[in-house]
Amino acid sequence: MKKLEERVKTCRKCPLGELRTNAVPGSGSYESKIMFIGEGPGYWEDQKGLPFVGRAGKVLDELLESIGLTRDEVYITNIIKCRPPNNRDPTEEEIKTCSPYLDMQIDLLRPKIIVPLGRHSMSYILKKFGFEPEPISKIHGKTFEARTLFGKIVIMPIYHPAVALYRPQLREELERDFKKLRTLLDDLL
Ligand code: URA
Repeated sequence: MKKLEERVKTCRKCPLGELRTNAVPGSGSYESKIMFIGEGPGYWEDQKGLPFVGRAGKVLDELLESIGLTRDEVYITNIIKCRPPNNRDPTEEEIKTCSPYLDMQIDLLRPKIIVPLGRHSMSYILKKFGFEPEPISKIHGKTFEARTLFGKIVIMPIYHPAVALYRPQLREELERDFKKLRTLLDDLL
């Protein structure tokens, strides 16, 4: 995984590679059985080369802490590894070019649980494993079981932690989904 992360740091496969300050491969434990996947780096992530270190990251830290986890115990990454200008949504083309890195990270980590954060990540992961994406408001907190060469993966999409910043009423949903995640972890590990 370390080697792959190093490769990502020097990637120039798409124009975002010229615009970024730092690529953001991912961070956390290479032994983790749970993988959180966001959308793409924002301003602070681009500055520091680490995922979820801005305001949304603070929410993610709080949610992890609420179920007794720290970010060192989990693996956190994004679908695309470089910040799009002005934090715009990633394009289909960017996702297509960058997602092989995420696919390799999944193969290397072999997680038992994948938690897509937000609709872009949910859509990519569900399609990758043969499921039909649905609105995140409808399927957050639901589980999907995927069979892979290295065993079963449970996928549980949740809202992107940033929603708690602009729609505070959704924070409760996030907290509820994290509690479900704790139960899943306790059952699976
Ligand atoms: N939002 C994301 O989707 N990923 C990050 O790393 C930070 C904010």
